[in-house]
Amino acid sequence: MFPYCVLFIFFGMGLHAQQFKLPDAKDIALFPQQNDFRNALNLSGIWKFKKDSLGVGEKEGWFNGLKDYRSIAVPGSWNEQFDDMRDYLNLAWYETETYIPGSWKGQRIYIRIGSANYEAKIWINGLPLGMHEGGHLPFAFDISSHIKWGASNRITIQIENVLKPNRVPTGGDVATNFFNNYPKTNYDFFPYTGLHRAVWLYTVPTAAAISDVTIRTSFEGTEGTMEVKIEQKGNVAEGRITVTGNDQRSEVSVRFSGGMGKATIKIPKVRLWSLEDPFLYSVTVTLNQGNRLIDRYVTGTGVRTIAATDKQILLNGKPVFLKGFGKHEDFPVYGRGVAYPVMIKDFSLLKWVGANSFRTSHYPYDEEYMNMADREGILVIDEIPAVGLFFHGDSIQLQQRQALCKQYINELIARDKNHPSVIMWSIANEPFPANLGMMTSGQEVKGEDRAIPSLKELIGEAKRLDSTRLATFVGVMGGPSDWLALGDVVCVNRYWGWYSNPGDIKTGASMLSAELNRLHRKLQKPIIVTEFGADTYPGNHADQAEMFSEEYQTAFIKAYLDVADAKDFIAGMHVWAFADFKTSQGIVRFNGMNYKGVFTRDRRPKMAAHYLRSRWKKE
Ligand code: GCU
Repeated sequence: MFPYCVLFIFFGMGLHAQQFKLPDAKDIALFPQQNDFRNALNLSGIWKFKKDSLGVGEKEGWFNGLKDYRSIAVPGSWNEQFDDMRDYLNLAWYETETYIPGSWKGQRIYIRIGSANYEAKIWINGLPLGMHEGGHLPFAFDISSHIKWGASNRITIQIENVLKPNRVPTGGDVATNFFNNYPKTNYDFFPYTGLHRAVWLYTVPTAAAISDVTIRTSFEGTEGTMEVKIEQKGNVAEGRITVTGNDQRSEVSVRFSGGMGKATIKIPKVRLWSLEDPFLYSVTVTLNQGNRLIDRYVTGTGVRTIAATDKQILLNGKPVFLKGFGKHEDFPVYGRGVAYPVMIKDFSLLKWVGANSFRTSHYPYDEEYMNMADREGILVIDEIPAVGLFFHGDSIQLQQRQALCKQYINELIARDKNHPSVIMWSIANEPFPANLGMMTSGQEVKGEDRAIPSLKELIGEAKRLDSTRLATFVGVMGGPSDWLALGDVVCVNRYWGWYSNPGDIKTGASMLSAELNRLHRKLQKPIIVTEFGADTYPGNHADQAEMFSEEYQTAFIKAYLDVADAKDFIAGMHVWAFADFKTSQGIVRFNGMNYKGVFTRDRRPKMAAHYLRSRWKKE
């Protein structure tokens, strides 16, 4: 006991307590924009970088400037950029300098990090600013009071991704870790770490600034409706909303009270957003004092509705069948770092293969993915990073995970709520019941009591924040069907003929068929098989379909699609996975890879991709 309290006293004396703010999810609602009233500066590029394996950086004041550093690319994971960082998940420091133009004086200045995985602390010119827990979603802070004018400004970001059971996604020594892997993730993808998306500086007018725009769309016959809610930081009384598109222009004025203003815009002869014609309207919001403009923000959206019956998902009132994949943001060397050429390639391949949807498994993707899905007419199931959740064991840790999931839901909906492509929120992938075996027989197990209230709270949070979209979670094979009843749509990952009945696709398909019938009889909701697939080493062939061969993967996928085609309550089939991707090491992951992709990691088609194209392009 004694050494610890001495350490505590020393530590207390030696360091001023550094105060770090927590961000407000509302500050990430609007992506940075450059116009007559706002500025935006993307700090992507080569930053200074220093590993802090002894955890001495804060004590030694590394936020006053990194010494003997190396160079690193931002955005990008750090794991594959250096030969000593692949499995390193502990502390490391990033630093960059930038000159802030005098023309920004008098404006409110923010920093916005697109994604820092997992926990980040930020200093500006050596002063503590803020911290954020959780990857794959942006966070922002007002840095106006930290700026040095007429000089260079130093931005320092400390990051770590230590795997712990009270984090989301979960990792470290957790009861449900079946993978027996290294690094010890409780999920099946590599724990890439670093600044995974761009870091922006941006300004908004100080007098008053548009801080959020929420657009809800509907239509009646040929008339579209946009219900627009605007929030502002400030108390300007008036605003305007202008909707343009399809050779039409509608404009309404808005009166504000308490920083909030609403208006409804009618669009005669509306051009709906659909898979065949993903039409986007431009929505311009302004704040004005008399005829003096104070602020302007331009966004956009598509007019569409989404709903579910007991068997189908309806887009604009018509049944839609989701053909697509579970994906990952993953590419050699980039790791989880956003790679726009890969993103563009992925959308080209989605079109090439005849897909119309994907799930952002198992975490929100870069904002440009959502913009592309809007433009390309691709439907998205948007998932928070809640993979590897479990409800047994330490109740403090359960509360911590639950609070993080709610934080993620608030951040995700603040960020993605105006995308017509996003039709469904997924609040978890494969929450684990305590007594589930990995290589399960697939027989349903009973869940523990705390699971349903926890899942219900998270689905309820998503629907509280956004009642216009469907909300669900994705069920693990063998998981309780009582849990599945909580979602608007039943989403299940199934591997009959892989993890269960390995090598025997025929039996696997009949087990799948019987289970889907049973699930629909009980739950009376549309079902999406959100994952099904087989590990396939690229170029591995067998004259008779055999596990890990391209023939087996193709036969497996065909068998599942044939089962689905025969049922009128299957609303979608998402193959796992779009492309091969990196995982932790373990005996079930040859090469530290998951080879269930129908494309290789560098996006070359396997036999199954050609099969899907032949099948889906015809439909
Ligand atoms: C699970 C999980 C995926 C994983 C897949 C697999 O269903 O959701 O993240 O990669 O199984 O084992 O291939």
